[in-house]
Amino acid sequence: MNARFDPSGPLRGTVKVPADKSISHRAALIGAMASEPVRIRNYLDAADTRSTLAAVQQLGASVEGRGEGLVIRGCGLRGALAPRNPIDVGNAGTLMRILPGWLSFQPGLSFTLDGDDSIRRRPIDRIAEPLQRMGARIEAREGRYPPFTIHGAALQGIDYELPVASAQVKSCVLLAGLVTGRTAVTEPVPSRDHTERMLAGAGAAVERAGDQTAGYRTSVGNADQLELDVVEVPGDISSAAFLIAAGVLVPDSRLVLERVGVNWTRTGFLRILDRMGAVVLTDAEPPGSFAAAEPVADIDVRNAPIEATTVGAEEVPLAIDELPLVGLLGCFAEGETLVRGAGELRVKESDRIATVVDGLRGLGAEIEALPDGFVVKGTGRLRGGRFDAHGDHRLALLGAVAGMASENGVEVVGMEAAEVSYPRFTDDVAQLVS
Ligand code: S3P
Repeated sequence: MNARFDPSGPLRGTVKVPADKSISHRAALIGAMASEPVRIRNYLDAADTRSTLAAVQQLGASVEGRGEGLVIRGCGLRGALAPRNPIDVGNAGTLMRILPGWLSFQPGLSFTLDGDDSIRRRPIDRIAEPLQRMGARIEAREGRYPPFTIHGAALQGIDYELPVASAQVKSCVLLAGLVTGRTAVTEPVPSRDHTERMLAGAGAAVERAGDQTAGYRTSVGNADQLELDVVEVPGDISSAAFLIAAGVLVPDSRLVLERVGVNWTRTGFLRILDRMGAVVLTDAEPPGSFAAAEPVADIDVRNAPIEATTVGAEEVPLAIDELPLVGLLGCFAEGETLVRGAGELRVKESDRIATVVDGLRGLGAEIEALPDGFVVKGTGRLRGGRFDAHGDHRLALLGAVAGMASENGVEVVGMEAAEVSYPRFTDDVAQLVS
């Protein structure tokens, strides 16, 4: 489906963005591992998180209700059932990489995971390696791609040093570690910590050492059972980011995004914007914080002139899904905006260095790809044209915002990809612009 986004009038008013995708996935997975029913308020109703609900049902959990009233009755830590058919993760990389942590300690059972064409191009060796070291057996197509099969086993604890900061891999190893005595994961720089917060809230013995510049060593001890009771999912800062960028770029905009999750491991984009001269948050969680509850705040956005900035490796995991927007903002910023240390972008739903650079260049941007990022020269304008989403939800939304800020509008090819995380995007924009 193609969709046209014309130069926009001011965005004004208040909007509630979709629920956080990362936290929704974790709530459903940890809910399925829990011994008592878990109520999830504001679970994300989108393609990726529907895949997670379907997966946990296949594994024996029951899911009742929707939206405000979702209740998961889990199987208990060691009670997953082996499904008759492969588990279809759809487009959800997070589901594909976190779920195996739980499955790997269901002794005697085997589970096959598969997904769409984009998933079949995304590597899983990064989780297979630590899980195999813990004792699970994994067979994957060409040794590293889906479909892949996990043979559960009795696991032993490891002290794992992540080669690249990745919340998905960290989460997978921590879940597997729940039955190993103690398992620790060390990251070169911090990444989002929703799993460790939720596990701590569920009664697991989570410990964290280190600091935000050196990176953290997070460990979990043995858990007999997990109990969560209620999870309240905040608004998704990664979805909010598209409206934030639109508000900053479109003249005379002034909008408020309500009840957005502002866990500091997710607010890198706001700190980048702050440096660019567009301050959008006053009560953010201070970097380095750790508490079971996810912090929430309203985000106030207004149109502002912006300056170029540099984003380095230490900041990348804290803004990973928003970096495509930094490319777009760079077109309008004074000076040259540089993103480095972001090679991980190449293994997202699309190769987001290639798709962002080619896509924005096709709209008139002066942007160049680097092996691990991109550099963009601010010209203060974007012509517009056609923009291919390449089946990637964040690309579809990027093209839409580019159109709103452009001179001639943008035709987004494949706008349906937005269903994965932000199905109501076009409606929310229409409400803010009217
Ligand atoms: C996610 C972690 C990030 C991010 C993805 C969601 C998560 O991936 O890009 O959209 O929920 O853990 P990595 O941490 O593997 O880079």
